[in-house]
Amino acid sequence: MLLATSAIGCSGGEQADDHPVTTTVAAVTQPTSTTVPRCDDASTCTTRQLADAAGVTFGTAVAASHLDEADYRTTLVTTFNSVTPENELKWASIHPAPDTWDFGPADTIIEFAKQNRLQVKGHNLIWDQESIDSTPDWVLAIDDPTELRATVTDHIRTVMGHYRGAVDRWDVVNEPLQTLGNELYDNHFRQVLGDGYIAEMFTIAHKADPAARLFLNEANVELLPAKAAALVALVKALIDQGAPIDGVGIQAHLVAGTVDSAAVRSLIDDLEGLGVEVAITELDVRIITAADPLATQADTYSQALSACLDESCREVTLWGFTDRYTWIDNTFGLGRAPLPFDRDYQPKPALAAIRERLAAAAK
Ligand code: XIL
Repeated sequence: MLLATSAIGCSGGEQADDHPVTTTVAAVTQPTSTTVPRCDDASTCTTRQLADAAGVTFGTAVAASHLDEADYRTTLVTTFNSVTPENELKWASIHPAPDTWDFGPADTIIEFAKQNRLQVKGHNLIWDQESIDSTPDWVLAIDDPTELRATVTDHIRTVMGHYRGAVDRWDVVNEPLQTLGNELYDNHFRQVLGDGYIAEMFTIAHKADPAARLFLNEANVELLPAKAAALVALVKALIDQGAPIDGVGIQAHLVAGTVDSAAVRSLIDDLEGLGVEVAITELDVRIITAADPLATQADTYSQALSACLDESCREVTLWGFTDRYTWIDNTFGLGRAPLPFDRDYQPKPALAAIRERLAAAAK
């Protein structure tokens, strides 16, 4: 029974007197077998302990700017065993001008992760989409293929090189398909470098850090069956071209009460059939209308986790954890409350549903 062994395997930061550290604090109390409480009973385990016991990477997007808030830090390190910098590694943040690199905010997250023994997923190296993305204008102005190739190679090598050993997996290309369509999005990289640009980015990334697991990350495939089929075809084509792709991320920005878990399961199954790892990478569940909104939201979280954990998928990352800070407020409107902790860091029914799924996966 996995939970019984988790007293040793728990990844720390959970006990009430063991505070998570910020980068300004030099050392963290390293839990030992005498300081980590046993976790034989799922109801007393932290959510992080449940994830560890299940062998699940349970992650969240984090923002460096919130790490100075004690409730944010404590909730983070007791709930998750992995973090994804929400914006800090994106091209426009980290490399805003040809000779300007701003590693500071991402370094803050990575140092915090190291101190609190959290895994780190790198998001992302290439993202040029219709509305929101992270390719700066100076890159969009490069029309010469040789120059663009040299620029992306330098970008990918420099960013992955800086975090080699600290970031174990990367979203190499984010959202290569049309937002709501089934074709490759005709972004700047495709226009200048051709359809082979995606395979090329994976090859560059693999050379930059051969130990990193390399992902393609896509949106709306859990909603749109034709886009899901297009994603499977794209991944197959990349594998056939010899691209060093290890995994596929399904973003899963969901609406409460609308998930088609059979479709998500079948997509995961199809992708796993191609031999790649599958992860849910940006899960949140916004409430639009529902008779019992929090219960409906909890059920949607539960279904999303089950769709992953019932297959071989072993990572579920949420796009934030507290309704105090969510990109949904700015993108879809206020009041959608998409995350499992409320604005005051109080757990919502969604957290109980997540805990139940993780505990079941540990059995
Ligand atoms: C979002 C961030 O959460 C926002 O803070 C930012 O303003 C825009 O990007 N899909 C992705 C993420 O892959 O990078 C996006 O993150 C959300 C949609």
